[in-house]
Amino acid sequence: MRLIDGKTISDAIKKEIAAEVASLMDKGHRPPHMAAILVGHDGASETYIASKEKNCRAVGMTSSLYRYEENISEKELLEVISFLNDDEEVDGFIVQLPLPRHMDVDRIIAAVDPDKDIDGFHPVNMGRLALGEDAFVPATPCGIMELLKRDGIETSGKKCVVLGRSNIVGTPMALLMSRNNPHANATVTICHSKTADLAAEARQADILVAALGKPGFVTADMVKDGAVVVDVGIHRIADSTKQSGFRLVGDVDFEKVAPKCAAITPVPGGVGPMTIAALLMNTMKAYKKKEKIG
Ligand code: GUN
Repeated sequence: MRLIDGKTISDAIKKEIAAEVASLMDKGHRPPHMAAILVGHDGASETYIASKEKNCRAVGMTSSLYRYEENISEKELLEVISFLNDDEEVDGFIVQLPLPRHMDVDRIIAAVDPDKDIDGFHPVNMGRLALGEDAFVPATPCGIMELLKRDGIETSGKKCVVLGRSNIVGTPMALLMSRNNPHANATVTICHSKTADLAAEARQADILVAALGKPGFVTADMVKDGAVVVDVGIHRIADSTKQSGFRLVGDVDFEKVAPKCAAITPVPGGVGPMTIAALLMNTMKAYKKKEKIG
């Protein structure tokens, strides 16, 4: 069994981006600028946004945060989005999810300019992705594809099973894996809550992507010997032996599953750091498109 080291690979990507930003600035260009909108005080969202801001600045990009309380109206939020769509100094932005219940999430996402949609959630970007056109791809599946490519995992002709059909991970992951290119070309199955025999489907996988949001869901009996397992889950579990009082676990029962695998992503240090790296890659892409560079 080999660990797929997302931390080291994401550090390499960030170094490359930092060098590119420095080179652009040497040539007299402004730095890329990513903005984020955060509504409320969801713990996981606060962590993600803080990490995004820190990493953005570390590579020399500009980062700005638009924070609002839970009671902001949908109309006010739409006005902020319109402002950022029109702001010449912002290359791309995200609206952190989840949003409060009184918001129509689809309407909010659809209001983002597709060319500034570095989350890749807008229907235009999802449509382009489905058609195999150039698109902003959601950061988590984008990061996973980059991770597999850089780690030298063969995907072409392999059987890939994706557990979970969310718009953010499972669905774009399946689309990316089935694309016609040498770092994809997999035969893909998506499993979900109505799949008749999920364990039997999962056991067929050469590459198993667990993205269903349930701690420790994937057990050893669901994994074929020699499979590559990608764990997208990230959950806080109470643990009194830790100073913090918790530890992080994924959607995979790592202790039992890892010995069966050819390779597996750990939690933390696997998919998580790649998500941020992919968001930075998307910001660079938006910047270049806007400034007509490269
Ligand atoms: N909430 C959980 N994951 C994400 C993400 O990738 N982007 C945004 N905007 N919100 C999220």
